[in-house]
Amino acid sequence: MAEKIPTRQEALELLHQYNETESLRKHAYAVEGVMRYIARKRGEDQEKWGIIGLIHDLDYEKFPDQHCKKTGDLLREKGWPEEYIRAAVSHGWGICSEVIPETTLEKYLYAIDELTGLVVTTALIRPSKSVMDVQVKSVKNKWKDKRFAAGVDRSIIEKGAGMLNVGLDELIDDTIKGMQEVAESIGLKGIPV
Ligand SMILES: [Fe+2]
Ligand SMILES: [Fe+2]
Repeated sequence: MAEKIPTRQEALELLHQYNETESLRKHAYAVEGVMRYIARKRGEDQEKWGIIGLIHDLDYEKFPDQHCKKTGDLLREKGWPEEYIRAAVSHGWGICSEVIPETTLEKYLYAIDELTGLVVTTALIRPSKSVMDVQVKSVKNKWKDKRFAAGVDRSIIEKGAGMLNVGLDELIDDTIKGMQEVAESIGLKGIPV
């Protein structure tokens, strides 16, 4: 099948087909939001960055043992460009894939994937349950607290920031802002007061 540029609608349909769990969908929207925000800030292709963010964990629900590997098969079947597949698969470098993040897009995806989880947990302990008032320092305060968001591997985020040559504060700030733009769809707009 010839490669064609996938649309957001196609990416969304695939996501919904393979990810029925609400939390996984929300994670995909969060990563998409952050990737879009950073792409826009850097003058890159927002649509491409967002779409890759949306499908990066496509196989995780149905094929947890083949995470990263199966995504490649699923997207290839649909004729997705290798550039998109490589980027999606590289997010699991050292965990479920051997594809090293090389492009700026890939490095950002690698760096912010785990970070979105830390921002979610930081938002959920606030009285507002909202990402709208999460600050960089609140996220940093929990950096060394291993019991807080225990599943989030801080060393991956640090490694990603190092590859990008971007400071942690800036990376956290971008991640919060990107998630604020999609707060509604990730359920972090806050509780009405
Ligand atoms: Fe993943
Ligand atoms: Fe992910």
